[in-house]
Amino acid sequence: MHNNGLHSDESRPYIPTLMTAATTGLSATDQPAEFPFPHRHLLGIQDLSPDEITYLLNLSNKYAEHNRARGRKFDLMRDKTLINLFFEDSTRTRTSFELAGMRLGADVINIAVANSSIKKGETIVDTAMTLNAMHADALVVRHSNAGAVKLLSEKVNCAVINGGDGSHEHPTQALLDALTIRRRKGTLQGLLVALCGDVAHSRVARSNIYLLQTMGARVRVIAPPTLVPSAMERLGVEVFHDMRAGLDSCDIVMMLRLQRERMEGSFVPSVNEYFHFYGLDYDKLQHAKPDALIMHPGPMNRGVEIDSDVADDLDRSAIREQVEMGVAVRMACLDVLTRESLKAAP
Ligand code: NCD
Repeated sequence: MHNNGLHSDESRPYIPTLMTAATTGLSATDQPAEFPFPHRHLLGIQDLSPDEITYLLNLSNKYAEHNRARGRKFDLMRDKTLINLFFEDSTRTRTSFELAGMRLGADVINIAVANSSIKKGETIVDTAMTLNAMHADALVVRHSNAGAVKLLSEKVNCAVINGGDGSHEHPTQALLDALTIRRRKGTLQGLLVALCGDVAHSRVARSNIYLLQTMGARVRVIAPPTLVPSAMERLGVEVFHDMRAGLDSCDIVMMLRLQRERMEGSFVPSVNEYFHFYGLDYDKLQHAKPDALIMHPGPMNRGVEIDSDVADDLDRSAIREQVEMGVAVRMACLDVLTRESLKAAP
């Protein structure tokens, strides 16, 4: 992990993409030198340096502004094919990759695994062969097994983006969270971020820990002992089991869903008791900074990990903005990974 707490993200020069002024409408001053993004795939935040993260966030921010201005579609992925291969359910991630691909001009195909021959026992390697035969240029994969996306990336001839693998990583979620925070707070450097809830099963938590620490933020984890993996303290995060103590002085409060589909047996006594101790309500929130930002990657379970009024708080909740930033971040990732001239050798 690149744990360089000295990087100030906003002080770095904005080094955008190869898009030309003609295709983007950006001014000439927005078009400095090429940045050699050295990765063929985006499998995890752990593989990225602070400069690469900053680059992706700056580029994503440009796309976010373009999307807000309802700018026209790009043709960066014209004649290219994006395939979404989701072995697990998804609303936000799959839809935003679909939209991102379309906004870049790609042909986008969603493979619904539930209705495909993958369900009939096809191996992941055979699936890769099929995808290769279709000449995909980018593949977004979500899978319940940590490592399955990496395995697929070694078998296919195109760029692979991890859309979430088991409890391991969800890199585009961490990037969109970082972009949301940076737009609201101006920086990631020096912020105190609390990740609250089912950290044990959360790929969102893991990717966020890597990213936030790499960019100079401090991370706390707040959860019952049953939902904190033993390796957490080794990652350099502070662990709290008391929500009020953990939220003290926090700038960001990021809530996580109880991932019951990954639990064998019961990790919490009851939903009511869980909400009482770990659900975010205004009473607990007052222990964080007065301007603390409320975040949640979705899907939310209202009344379980978050109170409905807190989730919908117009000033302090950034949950909708997170979804909006998801499209921009996915455009940036598809852009950098499918550019012919900058692709690193396999
Ligand atoms: C998360 C995921 O799938 O890891 N959701 C998402 O991508 N927005 C979190 C979750 O499922 O709770």
